[in-house]
Amino acid sequence: MNKTINIAVVGLGQIGNYLLNELNTKKKDIEIKTGKKINVVAISAKNINKKRKYKINKKIFFKNPLNILKSKKVDILFESIGVSDGISKRIVETAIKKRIHVITPNKALISKHGDYLSNLAEKYKVNLEFEASVAGGIPILRTIKEGLATNKIFKVYGILNGTCNYILSEMEKSNTQFSDVLKQAQNLGYAEPGNPKLDLNGYDAFAKIRILSALSFNNKISKDKCLMEGIENISLKDVDVANKLNFRIKLLGISEIINGKLFERVHPCLVNKQSYIGNVNGVMNAVITEGNPVGESVLQGEGAGPGPTSSALMSDLLSILRGNIKFPFGIPNIKRKKIKIFNYDNYINSLYLRFEVKDKPGVLAQITNILAKKNISVERLIQIPDVKNKTASIIIITHKSIEIDAQNCVKIISKNKNIIKYPTLIRLL
Ligand SMILES: NC(=O)c1ccc[n+]([C@@H]2O[C@H](COP(=O)([O-])OP(=O)(O)OC[C@H]3O[C@@H](n4cnc5c(N)ncnc54)[C@H](OP(=O)(O)O)[C@@H]3O)[C@@H](O)[C@H]2O)c1
Repeated sequence: MNKTINIAVVGLGQIGNYLLNELNTKKKDIEIKTGKKINVVAISAKNINKKRKYKINKKIFFKNPLNILKSKKVDILFESIGVSDGISKRIVETAIKKRIHVITPNKALISKHGDYLSNLAEKYKVNLEFEASVAGGIPILRTIKEGLATNKIFKVYGILNGTCNYILSEMEKSNTQFSDVLKQAQNLGYAEPGNPKLDLNGYDAFAKIRILSALSFNNKISKDKCLMEGIENISLKDVDVANKLNFRIKLLGISEIINGKLFERVHPCLVNKQSYIGNVNGVMNAVITEGNPVGESVLQGEGAGPGPTSSALMSDLLSILRGNIKFPFGIPNIKRKKIKIFNYDNYINSLYLRFEVKDKPGVLAQITNILAKKNISVERLIQIPDVKNKTASIIIITHKSIEIDAQNCVKIISKNKNIIKYPTLIRLL
């Protein structure tokens, strides 16, 4: 690589604009650490006149990022537009084919096209780096690729969405309903003001868990349907009851190998209040890996925001400048396997079930009878009567039971005329 490295930054939003400032202010530091001078030769966004936190040099601005690659000599391109297809895919693809290294925080792009793009990067012998796509500032991908390189990892899981973790933590802390905490999160900039759906429904965490699995288990990125539930249906009552039972509710992304099959899932979990993961609160993210011979490793930090995300992007840059040309997913693409998917109907786990019922004699027996028919036994049971409305909440923690049996029971019970609303099912970790 030449001594002066030409850089292009495509996308100057929350991340790209902050990154640009980091690149401009840390040139000396980068030179000391890598022996390379960097020079930002081109930038691109949709609107040249948009007011941005950090001033941009309009002389190097391109409205169409593809034109950068036609007219400028670029060594490394940052893609921070952030869509899964369209211009993001096109610019990354074109750059790689022109033997330009690419760095991106774009989890949507990598979780969808990571196999194709990493294959391309390997073919053209350039880096495709995406540390910032999972858990923001936490250097989890490099830890798996390098620090844990020879371990056999069998489980990776964690809190991968700071928005959801903030909402769940705040509901408990301030005894506030989901919708009110969501508004608060939007005001504080922790949740998208327009459409926070992709955070709340588990999609964002899912894209990250797919990338984590691919690195941990050397598999191709899975495309199959998986267990994905968000936090939209978690009520204050669940948070409160969980608390009384010595649990907290966390949205977890979990990926593990069960009997040689890949089981990826994102859903709310009841976790013990004394556990490590039960004490990761607010916007914090945490990722835990379990492997052999290393055992359990934990990384915690800020999972989003321009600062932490740029920290990861800069670490990718330094990795490239130091000459770490390597496979984007840690091993050659040809060695990456397609692992069969575990059928989550067969998943065996303890469950939290909450039934809202008319407060009448015999209702509890009707519920437990249906559960018993499927061999679902009760470990703990609480009844909370609402005398004024003549209703009650029945909360059951089950012994380990088969997912599909539990789902079927819940369906059957929901049709009972004494059940007021569809029951809540939350898995225990
Ligand atoms: N925000 C976070 O905390 C965070 C954390 C981790 C990862 N990420 C990832 O980082 C990426 C960027 O996120 P962000 O929050 O910075 O998004 P953003 O604020 O919406 O910024 C997107 C940028 O892309 C530009 N853009 C859109 N279409 C374009 C086009 N056709 N050509 C050139 N530029 C175009 C926009 O231009 P204008 O500014 O002119 O509108 C804007 O500067 C995403 O992949 C996201 O998942 C974000």
